[in-house]
Amino acid sequence: MNASPDKTLMAQALEVQKKAYAPYSKFKVGSVVTLANGKSYAGCNVENACYSVGICAERTTITKAVSEEGPGIKITSVVIATTSSPPSAPCGLCRQMINEFAAPNCRIILVNPTGEVAEFSHQELLPHSFGPASMGVKTSTP
Ligand code: THU
Repeated sequence: MNASPDKTLMAQALEVQKKAYAPYSKFKVGSVVTLANGKSYAGCNVENACYSVGICAERTTITKAVSEEGPGIKITSVVIATTSSPPSAPCGLCRQMINEFAAPNCRIILVNPTGEVAEFSHQELLPHSFGPASMGVKTSTP
């Protein structure tokens, strides 16, 4: 992926970030996942008065992608927009959720509204992961 599609995805993540429902933390997060089949999905965090019911942007987005595309999705990148400086990396729960569907070399791209960008591989953020193979499960492909 070259710089230009990345910029489009970052702009989309910053756009969906504005839709976040975060009246408690005031910490709005937007994310876009790209898939091996060329499609992409966007989502935001959605909080709840009963705090533990809230869901992070990345998990919202991945559940959207699975719901639309089915269980065989392979995530090639996750673009995450926060207001932090430097831009925040995904929480542990979201790293685990990404892990379930991550394609090899899955990229994690972090951005904020001032234009700071950081990039990691999923493997860097969740080394020695516990995943389908740990359970002896071979996940389906479409
Ligand atoms: N949040 C995300 O959306 N993604 C993360 O990876 C970390 C945290 C949300 C959850 C909550 O709505 C707010 O940010 C503060 O933790």
